[in-house]
Amino acid sequence: MKVTRATFNDVMVPNYNPAKMIPVKGEGSRVWDQDGTEYVDFAGGIAVNCLGHCHPAMVNALTEQGNKLWHLSNVFTNEPAIRLAKKLTDATFADRVYFANSGAEANEAALKLARRWAMDKHGAHKDQIVAFNKGFHGRTFFTVTVGGQPAYSDGFGPKPGGVEHVDYNDLAALEAQMSDKTCAVMMEPLQGEGGVISPDLEFIKGVRALCDKYNALLIFDEVQTGFGRTGSLYAYQQLGVTPDILASAKSLGGGFPIGAMLTTAAIAEHLKPGTHGSTYGGNPLACAVAEAVFDVVNTDEVLTGVKAREELFKSKLEELNQRYGIFKDIRGKGLLIGAELSDDYAGKARDFLNAGAEEGVMVLVAGPSVVRFTPSLIIPEADVLEGLARFEKAIAKIVG
Ligand SMILES: Cc1ncc(COP(=O)(O)O)c(C=O)c1O
Repeated sequence: MKVTRATFNDVMVPNYNPAKMIPVKGEGSRVWDQDGTEYVDFAGGIAVNCLGHCHPAMVNALTEQGNKLWHLSNVFTNEPAIRLAKKLTDATFADRVYFANSGAEANEAALKLARRWAMDKHGAHKDQIVAFNKGFHGRTFFTVTVGGQPAYSDGFGPKPGGVEHVDYNDLAALEAQMSDKTCAVMMEPLQGEGGVISPDLEFIKGVRALCDKYNALLIFDEVQTGFGRTGSLYAYQQLGVTPDILASAKSLGGGFPIGAMLTTAAIAEHLKPGTHGSTYGGNPLACAVAEAVFDVVNTDEVLTGVKAREELFKSKLEELNQRYGIFKDIRGKGLLIGAELSDDYAGKARDFLNAGAEEGVMVLVAGPSVVRFTPSLIIPEADVLEGLARFEKAIAKIVG
């Protein structure tokens, strides 16, 4: 059956408005569409394809597991899930893992666990969740309400209660909001969707101290920052601040849907049998792929390679900026890079995304004025240079 982009509008719910072309094949950091046009992929499926497209280790893991066992439900456990959980707990602060299928579900589990922990240990009054303006935690009704972009949560009727927001990097505002009623603070250790905003070190240390003071849990949403994206397995490992609960997804599966919530044994105890669950969470196919991704990503070679690629990317973007003067800031950590457009181009990030696609390079936006780059963690230097050469053509077109 021949399908085109026009077919999309006839058969799909219109909540997405995808690009005109339809990608059909990917290899490493290159993608081809139905017409055979080639693109350099600096988007990586929104920070998902951490090993590029069709990495042999992932293809092998999926094929091997696909010939063994696909699914059983959580009435039974399975070897890939236990092995993956062991690897994740050995490599992090966590002692226990809950598997989900997406970032939103990992965060949903984190929020429910925090509420249950607080209710069990301190009583029903301790229900306040504090999160940050511009934060993004997913699209379930709880996570989108905790996210700090009301445009995403408005218009669906009454929202889950007990959720407050303050500005990121504003410790005084957080302190003013918190009390013994605070059950948890949820934050990204670098805001992705909100514009690629890094936390001040003092701020993030202060958040931890306030959580300790008020006996509240600190939840790090590492759905975007995790799994090597910032140059360590998780971003918290470079910040010197350890959360109580951590949500992981996106790069965890490298393109296969999986999410995970990591926490300590003492906190995990509060999700007793029957309190939470998912049909597919911990599915053997997903866990086998994630295990293969872990084995590649959690190595010095890949993690130091992220830092080298970050330097290359940022220095080349600076060069572009010297020639065209279009950015007022180039920021981010590892391969989560944001280039904020100068005032003349404010609000036009999507024009750059579209012009890039026309020139054969896929980039992302993070809000109206930030162009975002989240390529494969192992993107070859030649692809970085080629993609940025194409992006320069896109810039030249817009600047005129
Ligand atoms: C920080 C963060 N949390 C959660 C999510 C939601 O993940 P998912 O779309 O897999 O539900 C995203 C997705 O962009 C994200 O960037």
